[in-house]
Amino acid sequence: MPRNRDVSRSMQRYWDERARENAVYYVDTTCDYGAPDMDRFFETGRAIVREAFLEAPVQPSGRQLAVEIGPGLGRVCSALAPHFEAVIGVDVSDEMVRRARELVTDSNVTFEVGDGATLHSIDDACADLVVTFTVLQHVPKREVIVSYLREAARVLRPGGVLSAQWNGDARPNRYRMRGWWWRLQRRAGVLRDNRAAPQFLGTPVPVSFVRGVLEDAGLVVEGTKGDGTLFSWIWARKPQVPG
Ligand SMILES: C[S@@+](CC[C@H](N)C(=O)[O-])C[C@H]1O[C@@H](n2cnc3c(N)ncnc32)[C@H](O)[C@@H]1O
Repeated sequence: MPRNRDVSRSMQRYWDERARENAVYYVDTTCDYGAPDMDRFFETGRAIVREAFLEAPVQPSGRQLAVEIGPGLGRVCSALAPHFEAVIGVDVSDEMVRRARELVTDSNVTFEVGDGATLHSIDDACADLVVTFTVLQHVPKREVIVSYLREAARVLRPGGVLSAQWNGDARPNRYRMRGWWWRLQRRAGVLRDNRAAPQFLGTPVPVSFVRGVLEDAGLVVEGTKGDGTLFSWIWARKPQVPG
């Protein structure tokens, strides 16, 4: 994906650095920076799976393969493991992948390093579930978000479901202000972490746009939640017979 190659490299560099700095904290900034509670960390993975999959408005027809875009340290993949024959997490950061492989030992879970914009290692029409949580919200370019949504449609088998969270905040200026405020605090030495970067702040995308991309890619939108917020969710199904 040449147009997005530089963006992918910058995302990879940023997330590799964050993984080395404090992987748990950047995966979930509600964790304590110095002393994260790892039991709570993995429990939040199970809570995400309840919201994204178990209590979703639509269920995939099969349970063979689940794919997570941006698994980080693998808490979501680990929580998906009892529900699918195989789970694959594809992350842009090889440092995150290295740590996820150490932390998550479920025999049906694998982690791969991706190119930051596609799921090129995953075949067409083989996944029952594609899930992504707190990943698209960090992606700084809308084209990359579009690429992942189309890729999800490609890899889903008929009857498969995409469950995606992204930043659908209807007030984009809030994000510019937040970036400005974080940068100011960092310069003043008040903020010690590295969230004030485009690769963390991402770009908000309206739900109507996400819906349009998924429908153009042949998916049927079955539900949304949190419209207009940072925690926007969409569930979309690949029809058994293409519509
Ligand atoms: C905040 S963490 C969330 C991890 C995981 N989804 C969770 O909730 O536990 C974001 C993860 O997305 C990955 N990531 C960021 N941009 C990405 C991209 N363009 N493609 C794939 N992974 C990406 C980062 O390396 C990091 O592991």
